[in-house]
Amino acid sequence: MQKYIVSGGRPLHGEVRISGAKNAAVAIIPAALLVNGVCRIENVPQISDVTVLLKILKQLGANVRFLNPTDVEIDCTHISTTHVPQELAHKLRASYYLIGALLGRFGSAEVSMPGGCNFGGVRPIDQHVKGFAAMGADVREGDYIVANAAGGRMKGANVYLDVVSVGATMNIMMAAALADGNTVIENAAKEPHIVDLANFLNSMGANIKGAGTDTIRIFGVDALHGGTYAIIPDQIEAGTYMAAAAATGGDVLVTGIIPKHMDCITAKLQEMGVEVEEKDDTLRIHRSGPLTRTNVKTLPYPGFPTDMQPQITTVLALAQGTSIVTEGVWDNRYRYVGELTRMGAQIHVEGRTAIVEGVTHLTPATVQAFDLRAGAAMVVAALAATGTSEILNVQYIERGYEDIVGKLRALGADIRSVEYNDEEAFLERQIG
Ligand code: EPU
Repeated sequence: MQKYIVSGGRPLHGEVRISGAKNAAVAIIPAALLVNGVCRIENVPQISDVTVLLKILKQLGANVRFLNPTDVEIDCTHISTTHVPQELAHKLRASYYLIGALLGRFGSAEVSMPGGCNFGGVRPIDQHVKGFAAMGADVREGDYIVANAAGGRMKGANVYLDVVSVGATMNIMMAAALADGNTVIENAAKEPHIVDLANFLNSMGANIKGAGTDTIRIFGVDALHGGTYAIIPDQIEAGTYMAAAAATGGDVLVTGIIPKHMDCITAKLQEMGVEVEEKDDTLRIHRSGPLTRTNVKTLPYPGFPTDMQPQITTVLALAQGTSIVTEGVWDNRYRYVGELTRMGAQIHVEGRTAIVEGVTHLTPATVQAFDLRAGAAMVVAALAATGTSEILNVQYIERGYEDIVGKLRALGADIRSVEYNDEEAFLERQIG
């Protein structure tokens, strides 16, 4: 296994280019299954979740060919099976998108229950299932989710989501793209990656309207054709570098982004005394004075993203005064707080609320990445803490951040990835 060794306490300086959005890529790659032809997908992030999904598509019979490190051609004309075995599916949460895509194209899917980050205890998919059922599919849940469309083709339907769910919105959109008739999703999620998936499908011949609002209409078409599509930049990767710049008192230009997607994060950093300057597709984050307290509540887009909650809480841990963080999306996303406390943060969690008493500095420690964003928070904390910290279980971080070590080193951080064994790690945590 790999761990990161970080000698923190140096402000980050320089420029960092943001990669393609993970949560768009992990939906758009399965959506290629709906296309009868060659999809060229550009700006694909080089992360392990993408590698796993491409392996799954290959197993299903797709031709997958990288043209360069970020552009990939996927040809799903000849798919040989709709069975997705556990071995790969359990490695990522997003494998649930294979259900909607396979159901949409072939009218049947047999997908092992998805795995992935488990920060929130139970991560239900009842809203996905409800949507598929409304569209005439028989869905059985066990070790595998086995779904079959009545008459072999999905039928358009009206679906009202009981909770605003990113995954259910995208999965139903995929299942509906080739359906017989029209589908309306009400109370749909509005995240940038929802719009990105709709744009991808539309560029391949689908007819989807309203993505980015809470009512999405999908007019079923008979087939999708090949084409070229570039994935949007990653809002959360960009936000994480912004948080790191703020926590270390640095001066960083984040490039290749859509500043509009960053508004919710920019606003909070400005409230905390961080200067954020927007220009074209860049944001410059600069902090010279102290960080000041604020409150943050995570909400579905355009609210503050839950996937930035651990990173912003880490910055607030260093802000003067008492901040209140409220998690509005997941039941339990504070497991990382124990690790931050090991580094001297003063945070008290009650249910979905964290009360953060700002401290003047964090102290280095050996900490764990419990999941992807918890891991990102540990990196931000270690960069800010003067001295040497170690972060274990970084495979979680590498599921969603392309070359985080290389990008941070280019910003002047002293961070390296080294191999370690479990026993050594156990001792480090006991002593450290
Ligand atoms: N929910 C239900 N039933 C469902 C689906 C969701 O009750 O059928 C609830 C969940 O328990 C949660 C809320 O609805 O309380 C929102 O869940 P959502 O479905 O939106 O989450 P998701 O689609 O499973 C995606 C991202 C997460 C991100 C959330 C919220 C992917 C692969 N994952 O998950 O990203 O936190 O949306 O924005 O796109 C991450 O990148 O670190 C990550 C965890």
